[in-house]
Amino acid sequence: MFTLSSRTAIVLGSFMFVTATQVTAQVSPSLGEAISEADLAAWDISIETNGDGLPDGSGTVTQGRSVFEAQCMACHGAEGAGQPHDRLVGGHGTLDSMQQIRTVGSFWPYASTIFDYIRRAMPFNTPQTLSDNDVYAVTAYILYLNDIIEADDVMNARTLRRVEMPNADGFVLAYPQRTDK
Ligand code: HEC
Repeated sequence: MFTLSSRTAIVLGSFMFVTATQVTAQVSPSLGEAISEADLAAWDISIETNGDGLPDGSGTVTQGRSVFEAQCMACHGAEGAGQPHDRLVGGHGTLDSMQQIRTVGSFWPYASTIFDYIRRAMPFNTPQTLSDNDVYAVTAYILYLNDIIEADDVMNARTLRRVEMPNADGFVLAYPQRTDK
């Protein structure tokens, strides 16, 4: 009777595996189509912590108050005081106490993240419906309510990246960069 030595069987088995993999790679399931630049742009909205990626446009505190009262107050309370959802204002100086109040103002280390988050995720029930101008404006209003900017400051790609958040130095790296390399 014809039998394969075990060595021959392993070699033959490997050959069949490689062939099967190559066939799989060549046959496309013919699903979907390549994404267009325009469609990709809608997903390409991340803003770096240093402000890189902030779009054109601008907004004032006064404009932001109108946006907030129309689009945000129902969930975040008058002047961002909270209820039924997250409080956005206050809590400064509480982070090292047992009664921490973490808000955008007291806790978040980068102002650019506020813009990124609101543009990406808010209003919670209709995300990504605000114009960039409205996002700048409501970001300005929240920063103003937190005593981080003045009432007549205008937020845009140039000014927002310069805003220093109170808790900017409050985070430690769990894995600090090695200096011995
Ligand atoms: C329908 C309710 C609703 C509306 C309207 C809404 N939000 Fe929110 N918001 C939420 C909820 C819920 C969360 C918490 C989401 C989570 O933790 O995933 C949140 C979180 C946030 C946060 C982050 C808070 C933190 O400390 O983590 C910000 C900033 C924010 N919202 C801003 C806004 C702004 C600005 C608007 C208006 C343009 C808005 N929200 C409208 C429900 C809402």
